Amino acid sequence: MRLKGKVAIVTGGAQGIGRAYCLRFAQEGAAVGIADLRIEQAKAVESEITKAGGKALAVHADVSNEESADAMAKQVFDRFGRVDILINNAAIYYDMDSRDQSIAYLRKMIDVNLIGIIICGRAVCPIMKDQGGGSIINISSGAAYVLPQQVKFKANNFSTYHYGLTKSGVIYLTKMMAVTGGPYNIRVNAIAPGVTMSEATKKVVSPQIIEGLRNVAVLGKSLEPWDLTGTALYLASEDSAMVTGQTIPVDAGMVMLG
Ligand SMILES: NC(=O)c1ccc[n+]([C@@H]2O[C@H](COP(=O)([O-])OP(=O)(O)OC[C@H]3O[C@@H](n4cnc5c(N)ncnc54)[C@H](O)[C@@H]3O)[C@@H](O)[C@H]2O)c1
Repeated sequence: MRLKGKVAIVTGGAQGIGRAYCLRFAQEGAAVGIADLRIEQAKAVESEITKAGGKALAVHADVSNEESADAMAKQVFDRFGRVDILINNAAIYYDMDSRDQSIAYLRKMIDVNLIGIIICGRAVCPIMKDQGGGSIINISSGAAYVLPQQVKFKANNFSTYHYGLTKSGVIYLTKMMAVTGGPYNIRVNAIAPGVTMSEATKKVVSPQIIEGLRNVAVLGKSLEPWDLTGTALYLASEDSAMVTGQTIPVDAGMVMLG
């Protein structure tokens, strides 16, 4: 068990890839805080973990709200006594309305997908500092890199571009957080997943684009949520003790082709 005795918070852990991070980390011995707006689904993940003998706590949280994020960190700390790992996975993705091209909606996406990472990072950092360190894993996306593909597929919708804008910001933000966290032994890295067959992808991305992205990946495949958990485990564990500020594409070899 590579995370025995560790405590993790996974935002957006109630479904999709976030749920997979929760299940994998619990299997590896971590106690897991499942933080999400979808509290009933988060509770279902909690009971899945506890029935299998693991430790988990579902927490209602809005990552874009400072009070809510502080309460999330406090609830997990009060229950399990520490916070070693934060996966900033929550984003507007399943709920993305690609028809909404308003500035208000762009602001909302930036609030959740980008500023939410700063807010949750700030919520856990005092705890990590007191403990002598921690690992924060931000979730970017292949969408931070693949604008030319979208143009090629004529997916001419601005919300998808807005999503990519927030996810490319995550790459910069990860370096910035790594610099500020470094003196406290808080490592900050990111994963940029390629197209992953979560319910969200099936809802948001057209089969034509999924097929096109699969074809341009050198391994010729899309990912399943579990495929991302090994890299998250590596970044959460001591195996990556000297790695910080990095974004690792886990995408079957898509973005390396440019
Ligand atoms: N699925 C893919 O192909 C893919 C590819 C690249 C990156 N990603 C990223 O991976 C992550 C997970 O993707 P997914 O496919 O599981 O998506 P998803 O939309 O199913 O999961 C996101 C979760 O975040 C939660 N959430 C949204 N807003 C929130 C808020 N304000 N506060 C708290 N929770 C909130 C949702 O309720 C949901 O449970 C996201 O960051 C997504 O952008 C996904």
